[in-house]
Amino acid sequence: MYYPEELVEEVRLKNDIVDVISSYVKLQKKGSSYFGLCPFHNEKSPSFSVSRQKQMFYCFGCGAGGNVFTFLMEYENYSFVEALRVLADRAGVELPKMEYSREAQEKAEQRTVLLEINKLAAKYFYAQLKSEQGRNAYTYLKNRRLSDATITSFGLGYSNKYSDDLYRYLKMKGYSDEMLLKAGLISADEKHGAYDKFWNRVMFPIMDANNRVIGFGGRVMGDGKPKYLNSPETPVFDKSRNLYGLHRARTSRKPYFIICEGYMDVIALHQAGFTNAVASLGTALTAGHASLIKRYVNEVYLTYDSDEAGTKAALRAAPILKSVGITAKVIRMDPFKDPDEFIKNLGADAFEERIHKARNGFLFGLEMLERDFDMASPEGKTAFMREAAARLTEFDEEIERSNYIEAVARTYGVSSEELRKLVVKTAVRTGLVKPVERPKPAVNRNKGKEDGVLKSQRLLLTWMIDDENIFRQIRNIIGPEDFREPLYHTVAKLLYQQYEAGNVNPAQIMNHFTDEEEHRRVAELFHTRLPEVSTIQEKEKALKETLLRIKQHSLDEAMRCLNPADIDGLKKLMADKRSLQHMKELHISVN
Ligand code: UTP
Ligand code: MN
Repeated sequence: MYYPEELVEEVRLKNDIVDVISSYVKLQKKGSSYFGLCPFHNEKSPSFSVSRQKQMFYCFGCGAGGNVFTFLMEYENYSFVEALRVLADRAGVELPKMEYSREAQEKAEQRTVLLEINKLAAKYFYAQLKSEQGRNAYTYLKNRRLSDATITSFGLGYSNKYSDDLYRYLKMKGYSDEMLLKAGLISADEKHGAYDKFWNRVMFPIMDANNRVIGFGGRVMGDGKPKYLNSPETPVFDKSRNLYGLHRARTSRKPYFIICEGYMDVIALHQAGFTNAVASLGTALTAGHASLIKRYVNEVYLTYDSDEAGTKAALRAAPILKSVGITAKVIRMDPFKDPDEFIKNLGADAFEERIHKARNGFLFGLEMLERDFDMASPEGKTAFMREAAARLTEFDEEIERSNYIEAVARTYGVSSEELRKLVVKTAVRTGLVKPVERPKPAVNRNKGKEDGVLKSQRLLLTWMIDDENIFRQIRNIIGPEDFREPLYHTVAKLLYQQYEAGNVNPAQIMNHFTDEEEHRRVAELFHTRLPEVSTIQEKEKALKETLLRIKQHSLDEAMRCLNPADIDGLKKLMADKRSLQHMKELHISVN
């Protein structure tokens, strides 16, 4: 859906970029800009700048940049429309609701109803737990050492022994069979009619990141099967994009998450003070989970069950997390089964200790690999080291690979030089060395090799927004058409229009682009570092050289693209070439 341009601009104007970013990044004023540590890459000294005058941010380290919308899109992983809504809300701007297509509107309404049904069901289950009929369930939770505060804050409940009481309750509230079936709380067949899916179970409501109930897990109180029954996926419940406990973990303000396997593990961890624990919902960790986690943290501790299945799950999860840039460490729970039992037996301090002793995912993988080899025999150990070397070839980055070679050599008491040779040999033999993949921002980081004329175009654009006087003097010499790079051309055209209208506003120019990559490039071109000059003469000289380079390039390009039959075009070009000569004698004053 599209919002009118004026509205987008109103929302932007009412959200000062320095104020908005300040609530995410600690900023300090330096000259006319604010600086802080860049939230989009790791750094120790601040190269992330925010300008109140330009209403833009730009990182001189990684090239991330844009306006206030881009910031939220990148930081919170929002779409443009989501960022717009959040900022409209923040500034008290009302957005029109009428522009949804009919289909989108129906879908949104359906989601609203499904969320209402889930919420009502959660309240119903909670009331049951607190009633006389729920006494067994309450005792069950108490025996599992959950406090009343924990039970309340996770909204735990009980689905009682009647086979259709929830169904009747929700019908009474006016919901149709169709919606109740869609919500996954009711099943129906010809023989029995409609009946409740959950029956005589302890209920765990599942919340999304915004605290809305989207589904349930229900546990038998005893040894029945299945141990846990879960809501099916519905339009509001996508198991691969939600994590149990995320609604609380996301505000825990710790730099890492603890990922475990079960509902009870999450609850026990939170109760013990580890409020950054989450679990995937009875499924293996997916790439969807990984990018969800990446919105909040760059590091996780995997604390899966100590059994074979849990170990395998941890080994599988580590590379999935790594592929989105999350570092994974593994916490072992032995001799206990899972975090819940560990904490019940040894307490929170012991768990904390295990966090400190956590092994990194790669070394953990090798440790598990050891079990397949006879490490006591020279043949066995050699074969093991070969396999380890093969795994080491998979690190794309030279430094990382080298650090791991050192660590593995240390752990297994072999010389790191020998191991390095083995890794290289393996890589060459199997062709395993992958080309170095660079993170997204790095695309623009490669400034050294870049075409000089592009840099000149950026330089001039930055100069022009910084100093109206310069614009006034050059606007008749250089026009938007001389900026040949398509994106720069669009930006220049808009900037000239703004100058003519007497209202220079670089951040508004960004509204004309919807793509994050384009925002990044626009921010970049308005933040070109001006040449370091000490005298006015030097500055004038630099400016003139920049102008000439752009003009020359523009004429060359025009010549290259000229249709040979276009005599008028050719005449004009020749005239332009002559005026280029005049330009060389022209005086432009800066002050
Ligand atoms: P576990 O079997 O490890 O159970 O399953 P648990 O979490 O330790 O449960 P308690 O302590 O015995 O109560 C881990 C997770 O796998 C999913 C659930 O999400 C569970 O929390 N699961 C397990 C199911 O969905 N269905 C099952 O039948 C079993
Ligand atoms: Mn358990």
